[in-house]
Amino acid sequence: MKLKHYVLISLALIISGVSAQKPGKKEAFIDSLMNKMTLEEKIGQLTLFTSGWTTTGPSLKDDYKKDVISGRCGNIFNAHTVEYNRELQEMAVNESRLGIPLMFGYDVIHGYKTIFPIPLAEACSWDTEIIEKSARLAAKEATAAGLNWTFNPMVDISRDPRWGRVAEGAGEDPYLASLIAQAKVRGYQQDNLFSSQTMAACMKHFAAYGAPEAGRDYNTVNMSERRLRELFLPPFKAAVDEGVATVMTAFNELNGIPATGNEFLLKKILREEWDFDGMVVTDYTSINEMVPHGYARDEQHAGELALNAGVDMDMQGAVYYNHLKNSLEEGKVRMENINQSVRNVLSLKYDLGLFDDPYKYLDEEKEEEIVLSDELKKHALVSARESIVLLKNEKHKGSKLLPVKETPEKIALIGPLAHNRKDMTGTWWASADTASIVTVKGGLEKQYPDAKITTVFGCSTKGTGREGFDEAITAAENADLVIMAIGENRLQSGEAASRSDIDLPGQQKALLKAVHKTGKPIISVVMAGRPLTITWMDENIPAIIYAWHLGTRTGDVIADVISGEYNPSGKLVMTFPRNTGQIPIYYNAKNTGRPFDEDNKYTSKYLDVANEPLYPFGYGLSYSEFEYANLKLDKKQLDLGSEIHVSVEVENTGEYTGQEVVQLYLRDEVGSVTRPVKELKGFEKISLKPGEQRTVHFTIDPEDLKFWNADMKYTAEDGRFKVFVGTNSANVLESKFEYVAQ
Ligand code: GLC
Repeated sequence: MKLKHYVLISLALIISGVSAQKPGKKEAFIDSLMNKMTLEEKIGQLTLFTSGWTTTGPSLKDDYKKDVISGRCGNIFNAHTVEYNRELQEMAVNESRLGIPLMFGYDVIHGYKTIFPIPLAEACSWDTEIIEKSARLAAKEATAAGLNWTFNPMVDISRDPRWGRVAEGAGEDPYLASLIAQAKVRGYQQDNLFSSQTMAACMKHFAAYGAPEAGRDYNTVNMSERRLRELFLPPFKAAVDEGVATVMTAFNELNGIPATGNEFLLKKILREEWDFDGMVVTDYTSINEMVPHGYARDEQHAGELALNAGVDMDMQGAVYYNHLKNSLEEGKVRMENINQSVRNVLSLKYDLGLFDDPYKYLDEEKEEEIVLSDELKKHALVSARESIVLLKNEKHKGSKLLPVKETPEKIALIGPLAHNRKDMTGTWWASADTASIVTVKGGLEKQYPDAKITTVFGCSTKGTGREGFDEAITAAENADLVIMAIGENRLQSGEAASRSDIDLPGQQKALLKAVHKTGKPIISVVMAGRPLTITWMDENIPAIIYAWHLGTRTGDVIADVISGEYNPSGKLVMTFPRNTGQIPIYYNAKNTGRPFDEDNKYTSKYLDVANEPLYPFGYGLSYSEFEYANLKLDKKQLDLGSEIHVSVEVENTGEYTGQEVVQLYLRDEVGSVTRPVKELKGFEKISLKPGEQRTVHFTIDPEDLKFWNADMKYTAEDGRFKVFVGTNSANVLESKFEYVAQ
């Protein structure tokens, strides 16, 4: 660094005493720095470019070098490892005029190199402590590799499993998704962004990206403000309340206005109502996309719409980079708005401690010690165990197949996901270390070392080929037990991976039917990034384990569950439709004026499929049996200042110790607008030994009854309420109370 620059920065540091990290000092430091910055350097801080990372290792495209050194690119994403990021950081600090450090962002969605279950799977644990720990450990590993900003948590509610990005979210319920969003923000940020083991979180995609028409990614989103506020905004609000540092705008339009230029979202809701004071970044080129949306005349106009709506940083679009200076000169944007956005970016870098030490995330020894450490691999097992869901466990020729406690002599392991590492990561695999992934085959061989395991590919996860069928049928015929490992590969869910038919892809259903014809006992392990319409499987296969995409420890966990080493406890956070035609289908539905009545033709139903889903929200089996009894409320009337205490007895009548997620739902029977037949308002995960009984307690207060009423006020209304407590949203005990506000 030239002496002049060093003096400048040192002076700024001394003035502000940045290492003191005291709030008043931050403003002084930022003011002082901004006074030195040119307009180009300010726009550079609002610019985020992807790195020139290549799979053969660190490489720098010259254009980044030029932009980083000129100060016209102040932030980089998709760059990682200490080696690569140090090279970039040294350019920014030593060669740019003011030496402002770079921020390094990456999609650490469910792990960096050690991969945890996809978010939709981990949400099935209903365990916010485990989820928080996953985020904390992912941050520990990613920050050791030079990263300090993750584009997570994705908090998009969705009721449409055709949409591939349900894999990244926490399902259909706003109450559970809000708790999970907060757990992830805590995990990544830990109330201390200054630490070199925490990273800035980014809640996304603001907002309502999970409701694209027809489940087709990036498609139009249109909904009432009430639905937006009741269903889609709560997890974002929860993340803001938890102190999330950044927000990412969504690709979609919302009611005619693209989210990236939407003042209602970015100003009224985010800044004014929620008092968010962090930084807003766009999604990948989403400013540019306001042109094809038909909302901006050209890219310069798009940039003006974005900045004036409150977007601080432009991801990869180079719109601010190319046009903001002209927009300012033409009076289309104001310098005060540019300054505010620059302040938001510099404030985050200050909070991350980057001005104190730009190289604090760039320690090769720490990288060596932490990345892929045992601590992470141990937790990957714990998280995956709690995420796996037992969907069916019925008898085959007189006895239940699961758990398989005695080693079978011959196992036929059949399917494209049987001995497959890379697809076990699921979508958004970041920098997954594929070599360390335990396959289903690997897990079963460890679990049953004396069994003869014949592994057969059978067919691909896509396409029409059936060349492996004969081999699969022969292996099944010669086996004592068949284990199917079928589902989706990692590209069949996630971004730009919507599917119009969400059955098993490729020829896997035909493969399953062909193997089923052998009459052999079959355990079906399904790995996917979404609910699949496995209706035929449910009708014909006695044992079904839904393993989602579980990450690094996949094979260990599947073997643990099959053998009974681990008693599964996962509960679905998305409703499983019987067929694609039922979509959207979800538990917190309205009753309608003609609720289904099998004795009355003119009621709400289909001619060709039941109304009920294949598996309801909150569903998941155990090797234990849980009996619910004696649902009690300590009073029948709730008034403004009081609360109702709910209790229910739960007994483990099975032969295995097991965990159960006891769920509490409410129904507001009459409202100034119609209300859902159920809404999740509480849950508790308990563990019971065989024969053990426990009384589980919940509290209901008027806050739990609030909703957006006919006047769009968030309030509770007098009236009759039902209380439901049970093992899932469909299998419940029921009671009731009256709410009298005054
Ligand atoms: C992608 C995704 C977003 C991600 C970003 C950076 O298009 O929509 O979730 O964080 O670009 O990779």
